[in-house]
Amino acid sequence: MFKKLIRKNDKRIDIHLDERKENAQKEQLPCHIAIIMDGNGRWAKKRSLPRIAGHHEGMKTVKKITRFANEVGIDTLTLYAFSTENWKRPKMEVDFLMRLPEEFLGTYLPELIEQNVQVRMMGNLDVLPEHTKRAINKAVEETAKNDGLILNFALNYGSRNEIVQAVKRIAKQIEQDEISEEEITEELLNSHLMTKDLSEPDLLIRTSGEVRLSNFMLWQLAYTEFWFTDTLWPDFDEASLLEAIESYQKRNRRYGGLKGEEVN
Ligand code: FPP
Repeated sequence: MFKKLIRKNDKRIDIHLDERKENAQKEQLPCHIAIIMDGNGRWAKKRSLPRIAGHHEGMKTVKKITRFANEVGIDTLTLYAFSTENWKRPKMEVDFLMRLPEEFLGTYLPELIEQNVQVRMMGNLDVLPEHTKRAINKAVEETAKNDGLILNFALNYGSRNEIVQAVKRIAKQIEQDEISEEEITEELLNSHLMTKDLSEPDLLIRTSGEVRLSNFMLWQLAYTEFWFTDTLWPDFDEASLLEAIESYQKRNRRYGGLKGEEVN
């Protein structure tokens, strides 16, 4: 009897979620959602578990949110999985984080392929452990022809470093007389960033109550709508993502200009 009641309740929640999803789909969806997945450590601490247990749970959330974003019809999902600053963490935690792409892709790649998801990576990948690179390269290669959701992991990514590398390449082009100073434009700089083939994020989500960018996509987020939640990443779910999308859909994006009736 009790079980039946729970099942019935679950169903009601599902119906509610489906309705919300369908309503969101009737309006303009954010094409590109970027997420700073924060709060794994605190999630674990609250349960007296080691921090790595939080990261492991966070990986499960990545699966859940990827599935759902694809289902909703989001074009690109960029996830901040490891920053250039995260190397400062204890070796054991770093080693664990470097094993996560392997575990994630090892168990989930067939489903990603079936769901037509294209896996991409951005960051300084050269210095990653061989086993991490192997898993990533396999996933990128095997999903390259898919044209559904782009699942873009930021791994060993730092925005300032990305911009510095872009500036260095432009300086070299000038030095070698390939371009002139006048040709340095926003588009040119953009074309040297790791996101050159992606649209700019429409919506940035950061979980766990922290309200900062932590060196994430500083250039690309210039006109992005931000949404912050106290929910810790392992607790973030489909309803949370919908809440963020619904909030985005209520925003009035003006890109520094005015809209319709505001002009007069
Ligand atoms: C920040 O939480 C989270 C990270 C540094 C790692 C994020 C990684 C995942 C969610 C898993 C990635 C999965 C794949 C497939 C690559 P924190 O540890 O800083 O949390 P805290 O602020 O509560 O300590």
